[in-house]
This record gives sequence, C-alpha cells and structure tokens, in this order.
Amino acid sequence: MFPEAFVETWIDRLTKPGSLILDPFCGRGTTPFQALLMGRNAIASDINPVAYCITKAKTNAPAPKTVRFRVTVLEKGYSRRSWEPKRRQLPEFFHHAYRMDTLRQLLYLREQLDWKNNDVDCMIAALILGSLHGETEKSSSYLSNQMPRTISTKPAYSIRFWEKHGYTAPERDVFELLRGRITFRYESEPPCLRGNVLRTDMRELPSTTARVCWDRLIESPARMTP
Ligand SMILES: C[S@@+](CC[C@H](N)C(=O)[O-])C[C@H]1O[C@@H](n2cnc3c(N)ncnc32)[C@H](O)[C@@H]1O
Repeated sequence: MFPEAFVETWIDRLTKPGSLILDPFCGRGTTPFQALLMGRNAIASDINPVAYCITKAKTNAPAPKTVRFRVTVLEKGYSRRSWEPKRRQLPEFFHHAYRMDTLRQLLYLREQLDWKNNDVDCMIAALILGSLHGETEKSSSYLSNQMPRTISTKPAYSIRFWEKHGYTAPERDVFELLRGRITFRYESEPPCLRGNVLRTDMRELPSTTARVCWDRLIESPARMTP
C-alpha cells in the first residue's frame, strides 16, 4: 500500500483541484481516496475483486446511519442453525482460523451482501475484509486466529503454526465488530466527491475510459506520467 503522505505530496505537486487522476492498479485505493480528499476527481481500477470492493467503499462511502441500520437488519436475519451444515463442509484451515459462530456469521454475510451493486453492502463487505485477519493478539478488531504474519500464509503453513504455538481462534461476533469498525471508519469525514471505480484488467481500460482524458496516471510501484 502507498503511504498516504507520499500520495498527498505528489498529488499536490503535480495536479490542481479539479484535475482527474487515474490509478489503474488501485489496490486498497490510497490514491483515489487521497485525490478526492484533495478536491481532485478520480478513476480507479483493479482486476482483483477485493481491491475493487475496498476502493469502492472508500471512495463512495454511504451515510454511516444507513450502514448501521443494514448491520442491524442483517443481524436480525441471522440464524445460527441454518449455517451450521455449510460451516461443517469447510476445509480444515477455516476451523482453526475462526471460532464456529464467527465462521457461520461470515458464511451468512458473504451470501447476503450484494457488494457489487449496493454501496452500503460494499462498505460492510470492505469492513469485514479489513478484519478477516491481522494482529489478533494486539487488537480485538480482527476476527481470525493469530496469523504468522499480517500477510496471509498458505493454509497448511498456518495450521502448523497454530498447532506449534497452541493458538486458538478468538471469540468474535462479526456484527458487534462491524459496529466498532463503522464508528472508527467514520471518525474522519469521508470525501465529499465520489470516485469512479472499475473492476477491470487495466489492459481493457482504454475501451472503458476511451473518452476520458486524465491529467495524471499514478501507478504502483510509484511512477507518475503526465
Ligand atoms: C501493489 S498493488 C497497488 C497498491 C496501491 N497503490 C495502494 O496504495 O493500495 C498492485 C495492484 O495491481 C493490481 N493489478 C495487477 N495486474 C493488474 C491488471 N492487469 N489490471 C488491473 N489491476 C491489476 C493488483 O490486483 C493489485 O491490487
């Protein structure tokens, strides 16, 4: 991920308010998010659906009360019993990675969230994606067992790591965690402008954005082209 200060410096140096910035490999959306905060317009694309979901949520944030309301509705619709058969079918890795109820809730939410078409669901999906694993030992805002690294490792390696260290998955309620995540996410005001986020291979971008003339192209690793 780009450090925010890096992006801020270069946007300030190379563009003006109202400029249009394109990041065709947006990842977690640092560039389009910062661009919008600085009064620039942004087009972002990524081939990876996780990157698309996170960037879309950051750059098209719905009102927090609509997100909270949707979480309440989802929680009311959740039935632990209905998701038990699906939980049992999961490979061994998942049974070490998450507590039973966390896993059932995740399966339910994965099916319910229409993240491709609905901004509120996209925000909830992005908040869950950001919580799936992290430094569980240090923070209660992560759902999984303590991973060997903050970057996910292969399932078999993770299982060996957990067994060797005697780690077990923490008790986590996804709905409760989401409420905390929403508060945290909206502590700072989201950008007023909205980004245009595409889920596409950048090699197909010319046909999607053929009529757009952008002012700056920002790539990762860092390179900027007029
Ligand atoms: C290093 S990450 C970008 C990180 C980003 N600068 C940030 O701050 O989060 C590179 C991204 O390029 C995406 N990518 C790789 N090949 C691509 C392609 N052909 N078209 C679109 N996206 C691609 C990957 O999915 C990945 O999210």
